[in-house]
Amino acid sequence: MARKKIALIGAGMIGGTLAHLAAMRELGDIVLFDIAEGMPQGKALDISQCGPVDGFDASLKGTNDYADIAGADVVIVTAGVPRKPGMSRDDLLGINLSVMKAVGAGIKANAPDAFVICITNPLDAMVWALREFSGLPHNKVVGMAGVLDSARFATFLAQEFKVSVRDVNAFVLGGHGDTMVPVTSYTTVSGIPVDDLVKMGRSTRERIDEIVTRTRGGGGEIVALLKTGSAYYAPATSAIAMAEAYLNDQKRILPCASYVEGKYGLDGLYVGVPTVIGAGGAEEVIEIALDDEAKGNLQVSVDAVKELLEACKAIDGDLA
Ligand code: APR
Repeated sequence: MARKKIALIGAGMIGGTLAHLAAMRELGDIVLFDIAEGMPQGKALDISQCGPVDGFDASLKGTNDYADIAGADVVIVTAGVPRKPGMSRDDLLGINLSVMKAVGAGIKANAPDAFVICITNPLDAMVWALREFSGLPHNKVVGMAGVLDSARFATFLAQEFKVSVRDVNAFVLGGHGDTMVPVTSYTTVSGIPVDDLVKMGRSTRERIDEIVTRTRGGGGEIVALLKTGSAYYAPATSAIAMAEAYLNDQKRILPCASYVEGKYGLDGLYVGVPTVIGAGGAEEVIEIALDDEAKGNLQVSVDAVKELLEACKAIDGDLA
């Protein structure tokens, strides 16, 4: 059986990390595409030289030509401009929208059967625009945000409860941004709801609220520390988990920016929801019961996403 092919559009900090992770896990052969000349070729060469040391079999190719992504099984998109300190995700809208247009056309022409994972921010708007520009089915285009957001939430909770991160199952809904909705009632430590752990005196409501706030600002916290870019290790690791779920038909339930039509009272937009990822792509959106507070918070998040979509439509008439 031929090896799978993973195309990475954008070979910057996340793209390079994706290539390294995909190679180490032998997900398939890897094509790194970027508009910057030489850079994807250099990274591909560097990472391929890890192979003899680590003992992985994966061929890597850097390119500036979309033809090289032909027949890719998975395409992960990080092309664009990352957030700089003081810049909101929304400031990125105009620049990254035009990048999505070029990337969407490249995927449509060369890899129309791929499962596409978008990482470029502002995520919920960019994944929608990428789907529109590429014309791929909605179930084959998803955004990576929730896996990262819930990993951030889980990291902070594990520190708070002084337990292994492996035992924390954190649940985050909604858009990727300051309005995301960490849901404590569905967040557990080895099956024990966080709300129960608070009742047991293992933390306080105030501490959990602080952790929720820190999770919402998790990307910004790293931007402020790095000063010259945004997070890349955890975003790349999160997208690789989604790619693996697709390639290995794992049927994992992962929080993804998925196209939601009908469920959660939504009428056709991308927002973070629990999604079954398997060989069919985003196979099913799972609708969970929400209390009034979570419902209200989700609505705020959805309204923020809708506002971004309107802004996109105003910028590019093809999206209207
Ligand atoms: N086509 C292909 N690649 C492009 C294009 C384009 N039209 N425009 C820009 N790029 C490339 C840049 O040359 C750069 O190498 O995208 C890459 C982005 O890499 P970085 O600047 O290192 O950004 P990174 O940290 O990887 O983040 C990428 O993910 O989390 C989001 O907000 C973040 O939108 C940003 C994206």
